[in-house]
Amino acid sequence: MRILVTGGTGYIGSHTVVELQQKGIEVIIVDNLSNSNITVVEAIESISGFRPEFEKLDLSDAQLTADFFKRHAEINSVIHFAASKAVGESVEKPLMYYHNNLVSLINVLKGMNENHIHNFVFSSSCTVYGQPEELPVTEKAPIQIAESPYGNTKQISEEIISDTIKASDLKGIALRYFNPIGAHSSAKIGELPLGIPNNLMPFITQTAIGKRECLSVFGDDYDTPDGTAIRDYIHVVDLAKAHVVAVERMINNKMKLNMEYFNLGTGKGSSVMEVINSFEKTTAEKLNYKIVGRRTGDILKVWADTSFANIELGWKAEKTLDEMTLSAWKWEQNLNKD
Ligand code: UD1
Repeated sequence: MRILVTGGTGYIGSHTVVELQQKGIEVIIVDNLSNSNITVVEAIESISGFRPEFEKLDLSDAQLTADFFKRHAEINSVIHFAASKAVGESVEKPLMYYHNNLVSLINVLKGMNENHIHNFVFSSSCTVYGQPEELPVTEKAPIQIAESPYGNTKQISEEIISDTIKASDLKGIALRYFNPIGAHSSAKIGELPLGIPNNLMPFITQTAIGKRECLSVFGDDYDTPDGTAIRDYIHVVDLAKAHVVAVERMINNKMKLNMEYFNLGTGKGSSVMEVINSFEKTTAEKLNYKIVGRRTGDILKVWADTSFANIELGWKAEKTLDEMTLSAWKWEQNLNKD
């Protein structure tokens, strides 16, 4: 038995590969390395003791993807991470995002159908809920009109998967991530943003290490206790473990429906200032930051109702915000140690 992890050299993908291997599951990674580095394969090997098979492949190429599946009859499940993920870039280059994220998904699903592979785990996002009316947000909350082409690709992808499942033997689990941060305890894998980070955690660590001058806190006039926006930050290793559980659920025929959706968060909201305070406390670093205006498209607050994942998957996020911020810092320090 072997699991295909697309995007397996990326941030969440690489942590998931390690967790799968540590459960004795064999992994094959496919990645086009557009937003990750081949050195991640060695880093994975040095953590788990197993070198995952790796193929450089662009899944938006229909022929190459079809050929890949024909060559790999041993694959019995797919965890699909490979996608572009920068919200701002997706607004500037919508066609690139629709092409990369949707065409590759379609090619993977076709390859699975043609080769009778039935288990599919999809990397989705809490962005599908927009600003929910009720918090914590459950999987039953209405899907909102997407704020960005990136967010729209996640919504459309879920629909493509659900329609394909209705018409075939495929089974699917969509995992809706809240805000993944942090890094592996070995500090050998972590988030590697290209250029200037858009997300909060890598911007914090890069500012503290001196790569960026100052963190801009986007707005302190929100209707929250300290005025800064609230998100449900989840440690990437907790998130990775949920993928192992999801794939086991499929393989062991434990699914209640052929398409299932799970929120992956901690169930606890933290404000931007709470993240900064946690970082300063755990690392003893003083962070240079200033308050600026709100960022267009940002929502006020969101955190997950995780009870469905807790009960059905038997999975619960365990790591605290302090563990997240400290591990992100150790990773940043390790990246810059030479
Ligand atoms: C964003 C995306 C989401 C995507 C996720 C991970 C939107 C609306 N959502 O989530 O779809 O899945 O990234 O890639 O874009 N912040 C600052 N200063 C910064 C950076 C961020 O104050 O330099 C604040 C933001 O305003 C926000 C919080 O930190 O309140 C988290 O921001 P970020 O890490 O970018 O994640 P989201 O915007 O929640």
